[in-house]
Amino acid sequence: MKDAEKLNIVIVGTGYVGLTTGVALGYIGHRVTCVDKDRAIIEKLERGISTIYEPGLEELITDDDGAVSFTDDLLSHLPGADIVIIAVGTPAKSNGDTDLSYVEAVAREIGRAMDPKKPPVIVNKSTVPIGTARRVETVIKEELEKRGESCCFSVASNPEFLREGNALHDTLYPDRIVVGAEDMQALNLIRQMYAPILEQIFIPPQAVPRPEGYNLPALVTTSPTSAELIKYTANSFLAMKISFINEFAAIAEKVGADITEVAKGIGLDRRIGPGFLNAGVGWGGSCFPKDVRSILFTAGQYNCDLQMVQAALEVNYRQKVRVIEKLQGMLKVIRGSTVGVLGLAFKPNTDDIRESPAIEVIRMLLDMGARVKVYDPVAENKYRQTFPDQDVVYCRTVEEAARDSDALVILTDWEEFSHLPWPEIGSLMNRQVLVDGRNMLDAEELAGCGFKYSGIGR
Ligand SMILES: NC(=O)c1ccc[n+]([C@@H]2O[C@H](COP(=O)([O-])OP(=O)(O)OC[C@H]3O[C@@H](n4cnc5c(N)ncnc54)[C@H](O)[C@@H]3O)[C@@H](O)[C@H]2O)c1
Repeated sequence: MKDAEKLNIVIVGTGYVGLTTGVALGYIGHRVTCVDKDRAIIEKLERGISTIYEPGLEELITDDDGAVSFTDDLLSHLPGADIVIIAVGTPAKSNGDTDLSYVEAVAREIGRAMDPKKPPVIVNKSTVPIGTARRVETVIKEELEKRGESCCFSVASNPEFLREGNALHDTLYPDRIVVGAEDMQALNLIRQMYAPILEQIFIPPQAVPRPEGYNLPALVTTSPTSAELIKYTANSFLAMKISFINEFAAIAEKVGADITEVAKGIGLDRRIGPGFLNAGVGWGGSCFPKDVRSILFTAGQYNCDLQMVQAALEVNYRQKVRVIEKLQGMLKVIRGSTVGVLGLAFKPNTDDIRESPAIEVIRMLLDMGARVKVYDPVAENKYRQTFPDQDVVYCRTVEEAARDSDALVILTDWEEFSHLPWPEIGSLMNRQVLVDGRNMLDAEELAGCGFKYSGIGR
């Protein structure tokens, strides 16, 4: 990238989105400052250690030729920034509304420290409810007024669509980039920031090769309000798609069909597409549950009834109950049984356990008096930290979780679970019961190894 094209970018929030975006923007040539208020995160990153588990990320952190720096001091790094990206958390409040306190705190700091003679473009990358771009603008203006200053600046909305576990890949090779901006100058600067990705003029990192046949991503330019709604619409649709196939999984079981065959049969129709049609224990993670609740809350404020989205939420809860019902069906009595849970992360290739189906399933099992053993290749620490008082047995291997268990339940489709030595594992168990909450195993093969096997919708 030519020097004139390089931008000074400040990213506030160094979590899954902020860190990945910062490292990727540094990799494609910009000068990036990643800011986090958590000093422990910054210290680790300064030592080249990734604070999240994301394939390929640590290699780029250590290999960025100084393009990316890390700090907990936003105020002194703001002057001189061309673009400030807000990527802090937007958790759900108990009523489903979005907690914008982190976003607003950042907006206040920006207003306190930005140079009114050379204001940066502010970009909301956090997932935020409709109107947040305007709210951020108002908060920044309030802070400028307190300093006796005023200036013209833009707040754009640039929702993020990356998938954890594929975060770098999705950032470097996205399907589309959505930018909601009111003025052309801001839009042009954001376009400049993404130019190497939009035109794919960078050498792909070794750990994250460009997919074969990849088409250049579309730049979708909209109003900030449409951009904000696009994010919620996308996540609601994807959540609904999973809940839809899960609903049909229940019929498939009753009539003796196999939902994986049904999903293949419909997914090949281009109007439907094959993605997000894996029946199972349901969706979780840091996005779908809170975003679905948030848009339901917003819809309620506008007297709109999003019945399909509401139903998706209810079907999703039912899937976890179905796992318990399957165990009850096969074990008969849960109290006193030992159940080995395989997988704590909400999906494979991440250590993120936020709203993971495992949390609810384990809670139900403990409430019912089961002894619960758990194994996850990377998410154990996050689980331990989040539920320090929970009475579960942490295991180092699948075999350890299986030993003396009455049942195993797969809740995350980690690759390693797809090729386990099932005959040996079965021989360690009290009873060979297996609930495959991700439909990742071959039912006949498991039955051949002596397991009483139950998938979802098969
Ligand atoms: N995780 C995903 O897969 C994903 C995908 C798309 C969109 N999003 C959205 O992106 C946003 C960020 O998500 P995440 O998963 O990266 O969050 P995260 O919780 O992993 O990271 C947020 C970071 O922001 C930091 N932070 C909070 N307040 C701060 C402040 N005032 N100054 C500096 N740092 C501050 C926190 O310390 C934390 O490290 C959310 O709105 C989320 O909904 C997430």
